[in-house]
Amino acid sequence: MKIFEAQLELLAYLSSITEERSIGFIPTMGCLHDGHLQLIQESQKTCDISICSIFINPTQFNNADDFTNYPRTLKSDLQKLTELNLDIVYTPSVSDLYEKEEQVKEFNFGTLAATMEGKFRAGHFNGMATIVEKLFNIIKPTKAFFGQKDLQQLQIIKELVKQMHAPIEIVCIQTVREENGLAKSSRNKLLSKNSRKEASLINDCLQYCFKNQSIGVNSLKKYITKQFDNHSNFELEYIEFVELENMQPIKKWKRKGENAICIAAHIDDVRLIDNIIL
Ligand code: PAJ
Repeated sequence: MKIFEAQLELLAYLSSITEERSIGFIPTMGCLHDGHLQLIQESQKTCDISICSIFINPTQFNNADDFTNYPRTLKSDLQKLTELNLDIVYTPSVSDLYEKEEQVKEFNFGTLAATMEGKFRAGHFNGMATIVEKLFNIIKPTKAFFGQKDLQQLQIIKELVKQMHAPIEIVCIQTVREENGLAKSSRNKLLSKNSRKEASLINDCLQYCFKNQSIGVNSLKKYITKQFDNHSNFELEYIEFVELENMQPIKKWKRKGENAICIAAHIDDVRLIDNIIL
């Protein structure tokens, strides 16, 4: 596995090898878990060369503590990637990707960024898209791989690629879960054993909605809110029923496969998100 810390070295290497070869790209912030590893394996199945980036992007954190506490496990991440036989990993420093005092780019993602993560994490999507655009421009992948776990991010990335007029295919993989249904996340490392158990509530609620769609959007929303009220360790930040295509709230179900339910909740001072498409 080739490890590059400097953009210029990565660029030089890519220009020497990539003629006519497809490149699969998996951007991450490290602390790799099975969700990340499945994205990589998906890339390895369909692309000649797979590149993973590990970069904790400071501009997408709207909360300084969240950035400071974000788990950093580079050594074991590199071990996992070596075991997967990955071709290339890019582990830049902040100064390799950002100029001094550089401001994030202001994007216009319309309704996609107006709700949920866009509303509760001011500036998050501009920071996220700033870094993903930079990485796409360096790596120029044929395909880039993202998880459904971050559904709103996924939809915004698809829009970003359109706005960039870049011929990059965005591939989505389903959310990989712990045995109790909790979506795998780098932040799960910060949960106590009990909270990790209790955090299965999020997926339980999503599954309940899936099975009881006929109750209707409003009643389900009330039901879920009540479930979280009954768990005093949990604080529900939002539960939103949205149309998949534009991430706008719905009052009634759209057609099958066109709806999503998204939840953000805090437990142990850890912010967790999850969703279901239905
Ligand atoms: P990160 O949270 O490290 O996630 C990297 C990729 O892994 C994202 O596409 C995310 O959706 C996917 N992922 C995370 N948990 C998953 C799970 N349980 N199942 C399936 N896929 C999962 O998302 C980011 O980093 C950053 O915003 C980034 C895109 C790298 C830009 O900085």
